[in-house]
Formats: sequence, C-alpha cells, structure tokens
Amino acid sequence: MDVDRLRTSWAAVAAHGGQVPSYFYSYLFIAHEEVRAMFPAGMSDQRTKLVTALGDIVSHVDQPERLVRFVEALGRDHRKFGTQAAHYDAVGDALLATLAHFLGGDWTPALAEDWTAAFGVIAHAMQEAAARADQTSPPFWTGEVVEHSRRNAHLAVITVQPDSRIDYQPGQSISVESHLRPKVWRHFSPANAPRRDGTIELHVSSVAGGELSPALVVSLRKGDALRIGAPVGDRLTLPAGDDRDLLLIAGGTGLAPLKALVEQVATTEPRPVTLVVGGRRTRDLYDLEALAGLARGRPWLTVRAAVSQEPPADGGVETGDAVDVALRHERARANLVTYVCGSEQMVRGTLKTLAEAGWPTTPDAMRYEDYDSRGYRPSPPPRDPRG
Ligand code: HEM
Repeated sequence: MDVDRLRTSWAAVAAHGGQVPSYFYSYLFIAHEEVRAMFPAGMSDQRTKLVTALGDIVSHVDQPERLVRFVEALGRDHRKFGTQAAHYDAVGDALLATLAHFLGGDWTPALAEDWTAAFGVIAHAMQEAAARADQTSPPFWTGEVVEHSRRNAHLAVITVQPDSRIDYQPGQSISVESHLRPKVWRHFSPANAPRRDGTIELHVSSVAGGELSPALVVSLRKGDALRIGAPVGDRLTLPAGDDRDLLLIAGGTGLAPLKALVEQVATTEPRPVTLVVGGRRTRDLYDLEALAGLARGRPWLTVRAAVSQEPPADGGVETGDAVDVALRHERARANLVTYVCGSEQMVRGTLKTLAEAGWPTTPDAMRYEDYDSRGYRPSPPPRDPRG
C-alpha cells in the first residue's frame, strides 16, 4: 500500500471542500437507500465530519499507534447507529465513488486497490472493536432525566439516570441524542466521577445555531429520555500511576470533565489540586456553589474563579482569564501536570499564554482537547463545539 499516494490523492479531493460531502452523501443515499434512516433528517453541507474523518483516517492507515485507540472507540460508538458489516461496504463504496469522481483521470486501478485495502483495515478494526464491546455493553444506553437545572438563559445542568451502569473514566465524553432532535448526537463530558447510583451530570451550554444543545437547555424536561453512546476519548483522563499535582484550567462548561477529575482524586489518593474556572461574565460561573461544597473539608483542593469581561460581583472572584489567575498563583514545576478544557479559542489562548510564560507545553506536561485543523480529532471532544 502506497500511503503517500493515499495522502496526496486525499488532499486533492479534500481541496473541493463542501462538494465532497455533498457528493458522498448523494451517492450513499441513492446507491444504498437502506442507510438513509441512520442519519439525521436534515443533511446540510456542514455535515462534513464523517467524510473528512474517513479520508483522513484511511490515508493515515500507516500510523496505527496514532489511530488505533481512536478507531476502536469510534467502532464501539458507532454501535449506537446500528451499523452492521453491510453498512461498511456501503460507506466504502460511497468513499471510492467520491474519490473516483473528484480525481477523474488520476483515479487509477492501483490507487483504487490501495484505498480499498486501507478502508478495509479501518473498517475491520472498527467492527472488531464493536464486536468485542457487544460482549460487555449495550450499543447505547437509555437514560431518564432525573433533574434539569437551568442555571441561566444559556445553560443547564442535567442529571441522567441510565438504565444500566455506564463504565466511563472521568475526563471521557459520551454522546447524547434526544427525541427533540432525532439522530443528532453530540458529545458531552460527565461532570462527575462514576457514582454508586450510576447517575451522570451533564453541563450543557446552548451553542448559537447548534442543532441539539439549545433544545437540551430550553425544552428538555425531567422525566424525558435520552439515548447515550459509548464513552470515548483519553486526552483528559488521569493516567494510572501518575500522581503529580494537578492544575485544572476550565472555561465555561469545560469545567465538566475537570470537575469529574477532582471527584476521582477525592475518591482515590488525594494530592494537591488547583481548579481555576473562568468565564467572561459572572453568570458564566454557573457551578460555584457545588465547587465550594467540593472544596469544603478537602485541604488539598483549591478552587479559584475568574471573570474576564466585567468586574467580579463577588469578592472571591478574581479579574482576568482563568489562565491569568492560574499564573498569578501557580509556578511551573516538574511534579505538576496541567489540564485545560473550554472552547477552542479558550484552549488555544491558554496554551499560548502558558507557553509565553515559559511553561512546558509537551503532551506530558499539558493535557487538553486535541483540536485538529484537518477536521477530525484523534480524541473526540469533551465538549462538542457543534452544539
Ligand atoms: C471506516 C469507516 C467509518 C469511519 C472512519 C467513520 C467515522 C465517523 C466519524 C469520525 C463520525 C463523526 C463522529 C462524531 O461526530 O461523533 C461519524 C459519524 C457518523 N457515522 Fe461513521 N464512520 C465510518 C463508517 C460508518 C458506517 C458504516 C456507518 C453506517 C452507515 C456510519 C454512520 C455514521 C453516522 C450516522 C454518523 C453521524 C453523522 C452525523 O450526525 O452527521 N459510519 N463517522
């Protein structure tokens, strides 16, 4: 398999931008009508994720260490769509037809052979992981909303009771779907470590123009059902055996996975943890009371709050971005690992500020959502920017 050739050909196809998903989905839904029902009703050109990921992943087939965990998690997660082996053939066929269409005369039998083989490797890894997961967990869970707490016009904290236990690690995310927007799945990170009663707390902020999050904030009610996909992601989890001090920097609902990490530390071996939660306005600091409760009687935990765009209303809240407040109180040191979670802009800004302050930003010293400019993330996001 000539991987350079796979990559070059994918780059040439991807240069056609939005036409690529349009062609892919038109072909898929006409040639393989049976898969249409698995996708949401409205299929705009914005729906580039599957196609971008397909090309990107398949053309990086030579980097198993980078891809294998991601692809296996994707395969486990895809069980929620009801994907079967025949569906992979359909998607593979649509991918090849799309490549052939955009590459024209450059689509050679040798290239077709390479793409077929590479797709086969990825599809096989996804299906194997799905089959293994079938032995231990359902394709998706159904959860009942047991509490819906609207914290402000744009944000709700939603507690869900799944029908059976979901084994996730703090820092991972799970995807959620609601009858309010059928087949639209979005990732959220549980804001708690696994509990004895299995309930999961989700922090949902309404993304302007988002497909699911505004409905979850405004229209979801106690007693409603949610469907929940398999846990995914490893960028924000605590590696076993790593007992370094923690600096956790959160923006908005980026607090959720970091709060889950604090709870995990509380139930295992406590160690020095500083959690800095930032927002533009005071109203963005929606969970301070719960955080104060968490810090009570836990001397190893320091919680700081920051507001950047208005004077803090409360004496305990500092002025500035979360990272400014972190730098005001913390020094880089060998036994400290920093976790950052928030919007893409917040994460980028925080990393830049820390780097400028001379902090190490190696993957070992700094853990954050891995935004990938090429469209897919080796680790799915704890907060879904698409809303
Ligand atoms: C090598 C094979 C495949 C890869 C690499 C792949 C990759 C992906 C990725 C990365 C996403 C976005 C996930 C997210 O945002 O959470 C996605 C979504 C999706 N995939 Fe796949 N997928 C594959 C095969 C399939 C197959 C065989 C089906 C079934 C026909 C399928 C159905 C879907 C659906 C329904 C979505 C949601 C689309 C949306 O909401 O717009 N995928 N896929």
